[in-house]
Amino acid sequence: MKVLISNEEIVEISKKIGAKLSEKFAGKFPVVVCVLKGAAPFHAELVKHISIDMEVDYIQVSSYIGKESTGVITFKKDLEVDITGRDVIIVEDIVDTGTTLNALTTELSKRNPNSLTFVSLLDKPSRRKMEAKADYVGKTIDDLFVIGFGLDLDQKYRNLKDVYIYDED
Ligand code: IMP
Repeated sequence: MKVLISNEEIVEISKKIGAKLSEKFAGKFPVVVCVLKGAAPFHAELVKHISIDMEVDYIQVSSYIGKESTGVITFKKDLEVDITGRDVIIVEDIVDTGTTLNALTTELSKRNPNSLTFVSLLDKPSRRKMEAKADYVGKTIDDLFVIGFGLDLDQKYRNLKDVYIYDED
């Protein structure tokens, strides 16, 4: 399997985005939400580079079976924090069809946060099925299935420290 993004590159990406978020939310107390399970390693790396006071929370949704998006989203774990009036930063692993980002925007907007900001380590814009744009993207990639650093195929490979292009052999 071929490395697409090395761990070193992910750390650099996290430093850059962390610095931008720290500037944007200076004087605020944002909630930095990890979209489980795929974003867990990126969220953990990213928060190390946010230099302002913040809190973390976790949400779990699912739209994938194997390598295909079902287009339907299920909320498996909700936030613990009441986000009314809060600045909310949602951290995703990858934006693919856009289903997850789109559904999270709709659902979380109903709770009247002060702001919603989406961060994604990866973006596959060529796969979009609906309107979805992350505010901060680590890297834009082609239509490839990727694994590692949180990204899975049927729950495997999340433990790899780099992101790889998945091939069957
Ligand atoms: P979307 O809702 O179709 O945008 O997909 C979002 C979710 O699909 C991501 O949070 C991932 O968990 C999963 N996903 C999309 N593309 C890939 C991939 O290439 N590898 C592993 N998981 C993926």
